[in-house]
Amino acid sequence: MDTMVLRNLTYGMFVLGTKDGSRPTGCTVNSVIQVTSEPLLIMACVNHQNFTNQCIKQSQGFSVSILSEETPAAAIGNFGFRSGRDTDKFASIPYGLTERGYPVLKLNTCGWLECTLESFTDLKTHSLFIGRVTGAESAVGSPMTYAYYHRVVKGKAPVNAPIFEKPLERLWTCPICGYQYDGSSGPFEDLPNSWKCPICGVEKGMFKQAG
Ligand SMILES: Cc1cc2nc3c(=O)[nH]c(=O)nc-3n(C[C@H](O)[C@H](O)[C@H](O)COP(=O)(O)O)c2cc1C
Repeated sequence: MDTMVLRNLTYGMFVLGTKDGSRPTGCTVNSVIQVTSEPLLIMACVNHQNFTNQCIKQSQGFSVSILSEETPAAAIGNFGFRSGRDTDKFASIPYGLTERGYPVLKLNTCGWLECTLESFTDLKTHSLFIGRVTGAESAVGSPMTYAYYHRVVKGKAPVNAPIFEKPLERLWTCPICGYQYDGSSGPFEDLPNSWKCPICGVEKGMFKQAG
């Protein structure tokens, strides 16, 4: 069985919003798709260990902010490499609340959906949440794909820094999120010790040079 074929499945990039009581929380996900039109149902898949999972079950709903290509790496990292159990992820992020009180991002989104929890199935590692869409709003922008996140955001590849032409072994790589420093702010060695991974915030000293 050639499981490499799974890499050819395509996904978007989203912040799944929910609430812990009245406190907004949520996490980065790539696993959101529309399931049916009538009724209008979507699904999202969330690991049991994620705080978002239990908050969706408790609050019986969630929101989906559709990330645009302009979303900064730090915002994706804020929602994707920290837990709402011990962090207020929305503290420094402009957001609004849907009618049922679920947080949606105000910047860098192509729109949002609000859902009530229709049903869920607990799989071995993840819960498969089916949400009934109860609110939706579009915004301008190009939706970020998961492939774009890997190629461009994580790679941090501006046109003048052709990261993919450099041999990978020369790149300093974050051991937590896999972010590879592209040299755009000068040699890695010259970055101040206070420099942190722009995606997950890990300290410079933890970075490894592969190879
Ligand atoms: C690009 C990206 C995609 C992710 N996709 C998912 C996903 O589809 N499902 C999931 O459970 N976690 C996913 N995660 C991981 C969660 O965002 C991460 O575990 C987060 O810290 C959970 O936060 P929480 O404990 O506040 O829920 C993704 C993370 C990133 C960076």
